[in-house]
Amino acid sequence: MAESMKGMHRTHRCAHLSLSNLHEQVTVMGWVQKSRNKGGIIFVDLRDRSGIIQIIFEGKNLSGEDFLKAERLRSEYVIAVTGTVEKRAGAANPNLSTGEIELIAGQIRILSESETPPFPIEEDSKTKEELRLKYRYLDLRRPDIQKNLIMRSQVATLVRQFLADEGFLEIETPILNKSTPEGARDYLVPSRVHPGNFYALPQSPQLFKQLLMVSGYDRYFQIAKCFRDEDLRADRQPEFTQIDMEMSFVDIDDVIEVNERLLQKVFKETIGVDVKLPIKRMTYAEAMERFGSDKPDTRFGMELNNVTNIVRDCNFGVFTGAIADGGSVRGINAKGQGGMSRKKIDALVEYAKGYGAKGLAYIQIADDGSIKSSFAKFISEEEMHRLIGAMDGENGDLLLFAADKNKVVFDVLSALRLHLADMMELTDKDTYEFLWVTEFPLFEWSEEQGRYVAMHHPFTMPMEEDLHLLDKEPGKVRAKAYDIILNGNEIGGGSVRIHQDDVQEKMFEKLGFSKEAAYDRFGFLLNAFKYGVPPHAGLAYGFDRLIMLMAKEDNIRNVIAFPKIKDASCLMTDAPNVVDDAQLEELGIELINKE
Ligand code: AMO
Ligand code: AMP
Repeated sequence: MAESMKGMHRTHRCAHLSLSNLHEQVTVMGWVQKSRNKGGIIFVDLRDRSGIIQIIFEGKNLSGEDFLKAERLRSEYVIAVTGTVEKRAGAANPNLSTGEIELIAGQIRILSESETPPFPIEEDSKTKEELRLKYRYLDLRRPDIQKNLIMRSQVATLVRQFLADEGFLEIETPILNKSTPEGARDYLVPSRVHPGNFYALPQSPQLFKQLLMVSGYDRYFQIAKCFRDEDLRADRQPEFTQIDMEMSFVDIDDVIEVNERLLQKVFKETIGVDVKLPIKRMTYAEAMERFGSDKPDTRFGMELNNVTNIVRDCNFGVFTGAIADGGSVRGINAKGQGGMSRKKIDALVEYAKGYGAKGLAYIQIADDGSIKSSFAKFISEEEMHRLIGAMDGENGDLLLFAADKNKVVFDVLSALRLHLADMMELTDKDTYEFLWVTEFPLFEWSEEQGRYVAMHHPFTMPMEEDLHLLDKEPGKVRAKAYDIILNGNEIGGGSVRIHQDDVQEKMFEKLGFSKEAAYDRFGFLLNAFKYGVPPHAGLAYGFDRLIMLMAKEDNIRNVIAFPKIKDASCLMTDAPNVVDDAQLEELGIELINKE
């Protein structure tokens, strides 16, 4: 039986009460966290999004009817209580911000009752995620998730304030679109009015923000929903949010400068972290050479060493074969891991194989300097010593080598480096290491498609000094593109855009679009560029990823109110679902059985 609130007004959120409210009469409303009846005195922890307050119901302070209500309370009942704030009669609870006070209830209403929830509403829940996501509205009551969503809202507000102060205009762009190519698969929406035609949901507002620059808006931003039909991982969702921006009459340094100040403000004002400016920059080539990754985690070393020249003439076929095939031999030094068991090393080899390695060669240097190696018999003592020297190998170290095509070597060693750092506890979630990675290749060769594809997107400007390579050696052209990396995560990326139609046309040509195909898909942009386009550049953050790191979460789902699971479905609503035949008919769609 639910009562009305009529006549009662909430005066405070639960945890906003403190000793400064002593003896005041207040009214709080919220959910019963727990209720303990100690015979004649009932202790209730009441929770709202601010936290918890302890409420005392005692017969002498309440009407008989209200005391009976207090006796009926169970977890997750929604109640309103008016009472007086007093110093705790019992011991203070240092775990609660309201631990020194309690509310002596004088009046209670049960606003609604609750069935027993399928799992306890508590911090650090042990409940399986599937169950929590099915009842996400209950999961969202848990303080840790609430903390994340509150931070998310704070960051959005700070971003809006900052960008508005910097002269950015918040402008919305359409969701029902022609496809914008960011490299992922589009989500399609059938058109009823144009049977057989489809809208694509935006993978990003890329083309529209560029058009806004053509239209003279100068500085744009949007906290934008983006949709990409790609395989999900811990840091990806099919539907995610970008902090998206674009600026006119700027070059790389201008974009970087404004964004560094944005990051500094957001980190300081939400989590109290000082971001030291300027943020370090590293070219893509250097990042690959030193870390084997274009998003290196720079919180720790364990950098890659290229030992190709040292082992070029040895007798180890694995090494010399890879070099003969145009590959390389590189290694990492896991400091202090020389005593690792054979079983653990075998597990590392298996891990490496998961990233495409054919094997993993190793040298174990014991604490006494004795050496065990999977390839000792193939190389001379002198080569062994030079190899160890090149790797800065000391007593107690474990040296791991991959020999293969560069791409495989980088994939394997960069993954291994992160894996080992995890094992060796080298990463600290309280440390925030930012890095700009710059000078990305303009193109990436796609084995699958047998052609070059844009590494960022087709509107990214080549570096002026590389323009002459565009025709003959497109693979060598670097782009005016940059990513912002935080602790090994790509939290954002952007580029200076092409604003010359001849360069843009050339770009499409290199990407294998005929002029007709390019105009068919992007004609509105190419035509717009004929009417006066300012040089422009921009960037977009993965908002969810940013919050994930700020909240020290390992999974993006923990910072999204209603996330999807790995197969892109929603466990709460059961989306996607089968629709009525009538709806399909209206759209002129007939289903074929894919089984
Ligand atoms: P990009 O494709 O690099 O650039 O996307 C920008 C940032 O968005 C985040 N992100 C994702 N987050 C969650 N789930 C996903 N599936 C997902 N995909 C990407 C990443 C990424 O760095 N239009 C350009 C930006 C520009 O050039 O201005 C763009 O979308 O953190
Ligand atoms: P094999 O001669 O295949 O038994 O390999 C000898 C050692 O070299 C083993 O420790 C393998 O794990 C390792 N190995 C094999 N292929 C590679 C590779 N591509 N890179 C590095 N080590 C490898």
